[in-house]
Amino acid sequence: MLGGSPIVADQSAAMKELGEAMRRAGVTPAPGIGSLPAEYTAAQLPATLGGSPVLGISDLDLGPYPFEPSGTVLVAGPPASGRTTSLISIAQALERFDPETRLYYIGSRRSPVAAALEWVETATRPEEAAELARALAQAMTDDDTEGRIAVVIESLGEFLQSSADGPIVELAKAAKKSEHLVVAEAETSAWGSSWPLMGEFKNGRRGLLLQPDSIDGDILLKTALPRLQKNEFPPGRGVYIARGRFARVQLPLPS
Ligand SMILES: Nc1ncnc2c1ncn2[C@@H]1O[C@H](COP(=O)(O)OP(=O)(O)O)[C@@H](O)[C@H]1O
Ligand SMILES: [Mg+2]
Repeated sequence: MLGGSPIVADQSAAMKELGEAMRRAGVTPAPGIGSLPAEYTAAQLPATLGGSPVLGISDLDLGPYPFEPSGTVLVAGPPASGRTTSLISIAQALERFDPETRLYYIGSRRSPVAAALEWVETATRPEEAAELARALAQAMTDDDTEGRIAVVIESLGEFLQSSADGPIVELAKAAKKSEHLVVAEAETSAWGSSWPLMGEFKNGRRGLLLQPDSIDGDILLKTALPRLQKNEFPPGRGVYIARGRFARVQLPLPS
């Protein structure tokens, strides 16, 4: 028994003495154990990493973590998990990575995302969204299109069974076959539905699950996750899944 006593305070004092004795004896101190920051700004991240934009800081090495700027990215999370903020951060990351990227927003007029960036075009009503999605799907599949197109869709479920439903499915398909990107966000519960609109993004098997439950990996992106503790995930922290792998990532607050 440490210090010969069952009392925690005595054991703690004995441990401290042991530490001091080891230092006096010249034992090399162990390096400190770092942890993910709960809050930081995008200015602290590099613009690129290995030729990709940077999503945030990961638990692998507490360093920047990249994401592929093509195909589809699903963003999920419970209310107040940081989904809206992450859409702004992702769009800003794309802007810093490649200032020539043409950014488009489909979502809600009232959302802070609409006002946070200089979008080439925004669409909020279903008819507008349908028209924009059709035009962008065509541009993505046209070999003469120069530069990268990136589309951010907020509250995807709002467009379910609207006139934009089919065109957004086609847009996601076009992105998967090209070097362009579609990021689509909805609450975790909304992603659970089996409509083709949701399915097209889930099948991409790439996404950011904020404040996830372990089963969300399997249900949404067919990727098994280990047991996760809810309290490991403050707002803006989640699991990023791609190619069957995952990492815990803390996203920055937008700059
Ligand atoms: N990356 C982040 N780092 C720190 N706090 C964040 C981050 N993202 C979101 N938050 C906090 O969580 C709150 C909810 O974020 P929000 O993006 O509106 O969530 P949601 O869209 O999921 O409801 C924000 O007001 C902010 O305080
Ligand atoms: Mg939101």
